[in-house]
Amino acid sequence: MSRIRLSPVDRILAIADHALRALNSTPQASRPKPVSTRPSPRLDDAERRHAGALMRVDHVGEVCAQALYSAQALATSNPALRDQFEKAAGEETDHLAWTTERLAELGARPSLLNPLWYAGAFGIGLLAGRAGDAISLGFVVETERQVERHLDSHLARLPAEDHASRALVAQMKADEAGHAMAAESAGAQRLAAPVRWAMRAAARVMTATAYYL
Ligand SMILES: [Fe+2]
Ligand SMILES: [Fe+2]
Repeated sequence: MSRIRLSPVDRILAIADHALRALNSTPQASRPKPVSTRPSPRLDDAERRHAGALMRVDHVGEVCAQALYSAQALATSNPALRDQFEKAAGEETDHLAWTTERLAELGARPSLLNPLWYAGAFGIGLLAGRAGDAISLGFVVETERQVERHLDSHLARLPAEDHASRALVAQMKADEAGHAMAAESAGAQRLAAPVRWAMRAAARVMTATAYYL
């Protein structure tokens, strides 16, 4: 199938459209939301607030994933790699839709700083993309592995009875591992240790802030 060639203006419009969709609209998942077979008993107020705050952090992570994959798809000149980034971005849209829905169910709101997170992640994604495909893929591997560990920590911190949130987080964790493996097999280069540390530090600031804001 032939690929439609976009002009620079078309590309800018497509990026703006993608950002507005990630930040403002109700995202549409292509897969049904994972559900637990175990009934979720009513959470008390403190549990619901805590689960909502953790879900807000996960939602911010998915907003950032939208921005990163969008920027990295834009930066590469390799059509196969662009397709791979766009396929992963599709699964990230599922995650965005599921976390949006779960936030509402928990009576929590998305982060007020989402435009800032999106813009920051987009800039970082462009930088990674400009560094070349192997580094860009290495960035995906490191990001997805960090998100996987982070989701694992949320499985430990979510209220034990919040099976609905746990079902989402477990599926997202499996998907992120798949994204990391796909990037590894596509020829990712391992990032230098200081870059990985900087990414971890940035992620810590984001997750600590998004719990409250
Ligand atoms: Fe995700
Ligand atoms: Fe991912």
